[in-house]
Amino acid sequence: MNKQLRKAVIAGNWKMNNNRAQTRELLEALIPSVKDAACDVVVCVPFTDLETAVAMTKGTNIKVGAQNCHFEAKGAFTGEIAPGMLTEMGVEYVVLGHSERRQYFGETDVTVNKRVKAAIGAGLTAILCVGELLEQREQGITAELVAMQTKIALNGVEKADLDKIIIAYEPVWAIGTGKTATADQANEVCALIRGVIAELYGQDAADAMTIQYGGSMNAGNAAELVSKPDVDGGLIGGASLKAPDFTVIVNAASQD
Ligand code: PGA
Repeated sequence: MNKQLRKAVIAGNWKMNNNRAQTRELLEALIPSVKDAACDVVVCVPFTDLETAVAMTKGTNIKVGAQNCHFEAKGAFTGEIAPGMLTEMGVEYVVLGHSERRQYFGETDVTVNKRVKAAIGAGLTAILCVGELLEQREQGITAELVAMQTKIALNGVEKADLDKIIIAYEPVWAIGTGKTATADQANEVCALIRGVIAELYGQDAADAMTIQYGGSMNAGNAAELVSKPDVDGGLIGGASLKAPDFTVIVNAASQD
């Protein structure tokens, strides 16, 4: 497995945090502190902060993402945002299939697949989240479950479009809990997902796919996690809200 073939991506998932003033403050701190990053740096902010974030990061190495989008281009979908509305604003990334969307908002593998296809069709890069619940890990079905989530999410996605997809392996039991997967556990499942990509699209596609780990990644554990051969950066929740911590994580991924 050749890690040199792909660039690590550190993406902050701010979730439903930060108003406009807090967005300005956090980005003012981050812009200078991550400017020399050797990895890609993305901040996925609430819809209401996108415009501020896009304007502030113009000409910097920080890219901006949303945290969800709908699969239709327009229409009677009250409360939803279309992929084209995001690209028009200068948004480049979107998190899709996050476990909080699956848990609280009825997101299914099938709707995740529709969103992935719509997002990449509109020119966004999708950060596709997969991961098992604690019960599923304890039942020993992590491999099957994550493989199934990955396969359904990518159903109908052409090989040529894979460069617009990042996969984030996020064990649900590690999200926001302070319980990180060990670096070996994270690597094992990221490698397994890479095997699924190889099975679906060939080894070259698998070698080129960025596969992140997410779930309580922080300034203290990031270096070990991202040093693993199949872990290409991270999707960071809580620690992305603090500029010094996020910077440490970006620096850890830049070493590798
Ligand atoms: P966490 O969240 O880093 O706060 O665990 C990760 C995520 O949900 O993407």
